[in-house]
Amino acid sequence: MITAGIYGATGYTGVELVQLLHRHPHVRLGFATARSAAGQRLADVYPTVLDVPLISAEQVDLDGVDVVFCCLPHGTTIPTVQQALAAGVRVIDLSADFRLHSAAAYQRWYGSEHTAPQLLDEAVYGLPERYRARIRTARLVANPGCYPTSVILALGPLVQAGLLASPSVIVDSKSGISGAGRSVSLKTHFGERYDNFSAYNVGYSHRHIAEMEQETGCQITFAPHMLPVFRGILSTLYVSLQPATDPATMLAAYATYHDEPFVRVLPHGTLPELRHVVNTNLCVIGVQVVDVARGQYILVSVEDNLLKGASGQAVQNMNIMFGYDETTGLL
Ligand SMILES: NC(=O)c1ccc[n+]([C@@H]2O[C@H](COP(=O)([O-])OP(=O)(O)OC[C@H]3O[C@@H](n4cnc5c(N)ncnc54)[C@H](OP(=O)(O)O)[C@@H]3O)[C@@H](O)[C@H]2O)c1
Repeated sequence: MITAGIYGATGYTGVELVQLLHRHPHVRLGFATARSAAGQRLADVYPTVLDVPLISAEQVDLDGVDVVFCCLPHGTTIPTVQQALAAGVRVIDLSADFRLHSAAAYQRWYGSEHTAPQLLDEAVYGLPERYRARIRTARLVANPGCYPTSVILALGPLVQAGLLASPSVIVDSKSGISGAGRSVSLKTHFGERYDNFSAYNVGYSHRHIAEMEQETGCQITFAPHMLPVFRGILSTLYVSLQPATDPATMLAAYATYHDEPFVRVLPHGTLPELRHVVNTNLCVIGVQVVDVARGQYILVSVEDNLLKGASGQAVQNMNIMFGYDETTGLL
């Protein structure tokens, strides 16, 4: 049995973690923090039957805690992470603060200086399908972004197999509204989103591009969209493979996922939908040839942004770090 703490338990990823850890057989929730709701109970500020007291971050006692999850906005996480590591507690950070290897890249994309650049070398990018061995012994795991998880899992095997004819990849992603977090804004207001559909941050501007490029080595043209649904991401990728690559050769690259518990690759021509994955920790990938002679393919990758795109993947990482079966609490 291990003891876990959650910073930012009143946000969408935090609540998801409370629920996942509640049904995990090997984890006890030691504390849950909130900012504005500190002193209340989770059920006071979120519709849940779980009775969880909320404390402020200043009240946290890390004694006896094995792991903490940071579900805080990027830019606010670094001191919390440093404090936990100094107390000998392992950290899974769901924010973007430790995902990039370079402090210069962090400054370029996140607009502020990284105040703990020495930890960027140590942090392990928490994508189990690629970094499982390093995650096992990591003190600090940087849980991947929601869009990047769907993109890297779809694109990675093609890069590794040397099948890409061009490093330039167009990524067109659609996310449910929960991807923007729980704080109130006009952008995510029901009246603005219901019965509506729009692109945002198009061009070379969405911060998740940095992670996608770091992990795939590709040049990403990214157009994110906000769907009028609560949860789920569907990413469509347009790739140029070596001329004359046939679907069987292309699909063979995905054999790397054969034993992966949370990645499924569908037969050629069968495309996944959000309903394949919502409320699961799965990422499901489908491929469709456009033109074999020219090596043109379209990939479709779906996941639940709050599970494989955030809290589910964080629990998967925790299971790996503490030697539990990777699927514990996630099936
Ligand atoms: N939502 C997703 O699909 C998703 C997916 C992957 C990664 N992430 C990342 O995970 C982190 C949490 O996301 P979320 O969607 O759960 O966010 P959220 O719903 O906005 O919740 C954020 C939490 O952090 C607290 N908080 C806000 N500002 C704070 C500050 N300055 N200092 C301390 N606490 C503060 C909030 O408390 P108050 O309610 O009092 O403000 C709340 O408990 C973010 O870094 C996000 O980028 C999110």
